[in-house]
Amino acid sequence: MSQLSTKHLLGIKNITENDVQLILETAANFKEVINRPIKKVPSLRDITIANIFFENSTRTRLSFELAEKRLSADVVNFSSSNSSVKKGETLVDTVNNILSMKVDMVVMRHSSPGAPHFLSRNVKANIVNAGDGTHEHPTQALLDAFSIKEKFGDVAGKKVAIIGDILHSRVALSNIFCLQKLGAEVMVCGPITLLPKYIQSLGVKVELDVKKALQWCDVANVLRIQLERQQIKYFPSLREYSLYYGINKKLLDQLDKEIVIMHPGPINRGVELSSDVADSEHAIILEQVQNGVAVRMAVLYLLAGAKN
Ligand code: CP
Repeated sequence: MSQLSTKHLLGIKNITENDVQLILETAANFKEVINRPIKKVPSLRDITIANIFFENSTRTRLSFELAEKRLSADVVNFSSSNSSVKKGETLVDTVNNILSMKVDMVVMRHSSPGAPHFLSRNVKANIVNAGDGTHEHPTQALLDAFSIKEKFGDVAGKKVAIIGDILHSRVALSNIFCLQKLGAEVMVCGPITLLPKYIQSLGVKVELDVKKALQWCDVANVLRIQLERQQIKYFPSLREYSLYYGINKKLLDQLDKEIVIMHPGPINRGVELSSDVADSEHAIILEQVQNGVAVRMAVLYLLAGAKN
């Protein structure tokens, strides 16, 4: 199979293992392309892509834009903070206006879970979810899986602990679906108040002790505390969180094994990760960012070829 089973990438939950494998294999080819002196290919020369971001982003937005330009697509960028959304324009009106300018694909980040799914039912373009609230962030999970595969040769059989604010994390949910499809074992670890009640129904291990989680895993994917999504207090203070769940060099030195540290960014240095871990030889955080461009190239390329 050299085609995706879907014309949209809305999440990892509803795509197949074959889709994930195809994206990772295609991304490996594009990674080779973007390391050449001439990094551009003409694959999407007649395609116009709109990146519409209703929430802040550094990595995802830049990474999609670079991926699109490397594929020779025409690119328009929309940010809600300086748009007519501020004058009351609805999501569908905004997108339909963008589409009437002959846009073929829409990459969207939105604070409301389900916003890209809603869009996919109401507009004709291919939709890519670049993060919808606390729901899914499919391209982050794909680039995380790609990075694990690159490091270990395979994702199957690897033990991955996702540590931190699981409750508010779209990265956690997409990672769980993606890693399980690829045959990894997944654990979540964090304070009980930051673990969703339904989490065990997803078939993951649950651990409250970060030392035990680190001892168990091959890879620790460490997540940020998302204070901007927290309407109530889930723990007494950031200082206390850092004391019990922050990962520092001393903790890693106590392990009698190798470990890989990942983080989707942005990092709150000194909270979930100390700088001596974030910048250490254990961390592959900047490799993840680099792999994001190749993975997003693969997603856009394959969606452009998907049957409508
Ligand atoms: N990992 C991630 O989604 O980062 P941004 O919010 O900067 O895009």
